[in-house]
Amino acid sequence: MILYEACFDHKLDRSSLIVALGGGVAGDMSGFVAATFMRGIPFIQIPTSLLAQVDSSIGGKVAVNHPRGKNMIGSFYQPLAVFIDTETLSTLPAIELVTGLVEVIKYGVIKDAELFEYIEKSLYDILQLDQKALLKIIATSCQIKADIVAEDEKEKHVRAILNYGHTIGHAIEALTHYKKYRHGEAVAIGMLYAARIAVEMGLTGSTVFERQLSLVKRLGLPLSTGLKPKDIIKTLYLDKKAVSGKLRFVLPTGIGEVIISDQVTEEILSHVLTGNFV
Ligand SMILES: NC(=O)c1ccc[n+]([C@@H]2O[C@H](COP(=O)([O-])OP(=O)(O)OC[C@H]3O[C@@H](n4cnc5c(N)ncnc54)[C@H](O)[C@@H]3O)[C@@H](O)[C@H]2O)c1
Ligand SMILES: [Zn+2]
Repeated sequence: MILYEACFDHKLDRSSLIVALGGGVAGDMSGFVAATFMRGIPFIQIPTSLLAQVDSSIGGKVAVNHPRGKNMIGSFYQPLAVFIDTETLSTLPAIELVTGLVEVIKYGVIKDAELFEYIEKSLYDILQLDQKALLKIIATSCQIKADIVAEDEKEKHVRAILNYGHTIGHAIEALTHYKKYRHGEAVAIGMLYAARIAVEMGLTGSTVFERQLSLVKRLGLPLSTGLKPKDIIKTLYLDKKAVSGKLRFVLPTGIGEVIISDQVTEEILSHVLTGNFV
C-alpha cells in the first residue's frame, strides 16, 4: 500500500514510468505495482543481483507475497525493457552470487550443454567477477529464459521446465519456513535429487548427476537438509505444481535436455530422498 501511496504522491499517470532497480524482490514488487496501478503503467527492470539478472527480471511474472503463500498475489506483466549492468555485482554479497549461479547451472541442464561446460571450466573467473565470463553466462541465461517464455508465456507447457530443481527445492524451502535455506541453496539440492531420480529411472547416465554434484560441491553449497523424506513427500503433494494429485517432475535426460514426467512413483522418491550426496 505504501508503494501505491508513493505513486499517488508523485502524481504518476498512465504515461509515467516505474523503474525497478534492485534484486528480485524489488523487481517483482515494482512490477506488480506497475501492473496494477491505473490498470497498468509502463515499467523497466534494472536488476542488480545475479538471480534477478538471469531469472526474475525476464519473463514478466510479477508478484507480492501474502501471509498464506509466497508470490500468491501476482500477474503476468512484461517490462518495456531490461537493462543489466554486470558491474552492479561487485557489491553483491558472495553468497548471493553463488546462489544466483544455481539458476544459471539450471539453464545449462535444461537447455544448453555448452553453457554447463562453460561454467565447469570458468567457475573461478565467474566467482572472481571476470566481466567477460559474467557477460557470457548472463546473456546466455537471459536468451534461454526469453526463448522459453516467448514460446509459453503463461506456463501451460514448456515454461514448466524452468522449474527444474524447484519441485523438491520449494518443498525444502516451505518445510524450513523460508528461513534456513536461500532459494538457490534449496534449488541446488532439488536439482541433485531430480538428477538422481532420473538416473534411478534409467532416463540418463550417472555422469549427469555427478557433474551437477561436482559443481554444487565446488560452490560450497549444502548437500543435505536433515528433513525426513516422508515430510518432503507430503509437502510435494501440497505444492501447487501437483496436477490432479500427480506429482510432476522436470527430469534430465542428459546435460542440456529435460523431460516433464508424472511417472515418478512414491517408491522411487522415497528411495532417492533417503540417500545422501557425499
Ligand atoms: N518473477 C520471477 O519470475 C521470479 C523468478 C525467480 C525469483 N523471483 C523472486 O525473486 C526474489 C529473489 O531475488 P533476489 O535473490 O535478487 O533477492 P533480493 O531482491 O532479496 O536480493 C538479495 C539481497 O541482495 C541485495 N542486493 C541486490 N543487489 C545488490 C547489489 N548489486 N549489491 C549489494 N546488494 C544487493 C538485496 O538488497 C538483498 O539483500 C524472490 O522474492 C523470488 O520469489 C521471481
Ligand atoms: Zn528459482
